Amino acid sequence: MEVIIQDNPEEGCILGAKIIAKKIREKPDAVLGLATGRTPERLYRELVRLHREEDLDFSQITTFNLDEYVGLSPEHDQSYRYFMNEHLFRHINIDLAKTNVPAGNAADLHAECRDYEARITAAGGIDVQLLGLGRNGHIGFNEPTGSLRSRTWIKILSEQTLNDNAAVFGNRDSMPKHAVTMGIGTIMEARQIVLLAFGPAKVRAVMDMIEGPLAAVCPGSALQEHPRATVVLDDSSAAGLRYTDHYRWVDHNKLTWQRYD
Ligand code: GLP
Repeated sequence: MEVIIQDNPEEGCILGAKIIAKKIREKPDAVLGLATGRTPERLYRELVRLHREEDLDFSQITTFNLDEYVGLSPEHDQSYRYFMNEHLFRHINIDLAKTNVPAGNAADLHAECRDYEARITAAGGIDVQLLGLGRNGHIGFNEPTGSLRSRTWIKILSEQTLNDNAAVFGNRDSMPKHAVTMGIGTIMEARQIVLLAFGPAKVRAVMDMIEGPLAAVCPGSALQEHPRATVVLDDSSAAGLRYTDHYRWVDHNKLTWQRYD
């Protein structure tokens, strides 16, 4: 696990966008795994800027999002499909037919899970997977104690996640209690992973993910086993780490990025 601590979330997001843009320029038909949540919003703005100002071309790109709330239609303004359209897809030259978000309103959700796995495999697997981190250490919607080998499945949302995400739904009662999510096993098959976690609310999860034991109680800790996972933090999310002298503190403007080849 490569840990990079930036001064603030802004720089962390620009770094994350650089890693993804580098992959797109090297492999114009790359398969990207995408995430939602507040954390990557700034990263998507940077990708949009790179498209508009520096000709970053998404025309051959395929995307797979991590997860979706059960029961929400793609048009629902809190669905993750809606989020992706608003924050990224409608601002770039991507073919919407090549963008995939699990269908949270599928009539047969188990069939949708199997089909989602099959679509990822048929696309050749994911080249770079972007992740955020829940306050309880979840990745995608893989809540604590799920199998580290899980495939795309339906998860019950934890109390903490319901509380953390309820505000945008107005209240907890109108929030879905389940989600379809890529499994941890699915995520771990991505050839490269970039996880972003910023702010003091993520201190505990970051400590458990990086310095805790590899354990299902912190799903993010699975990344300790990944051969090419980069974790981008800011000063505040990294505040609880003990072994910071072992991590790279990087001024990303000085990097050549060749080491990500
Ligand atoms: C959400 C998403 C995750 C996200 C996490 C953190 O519920 N399912 O993919 O990484 O929780 O969200 P945020 O970035 O808003 O803190």
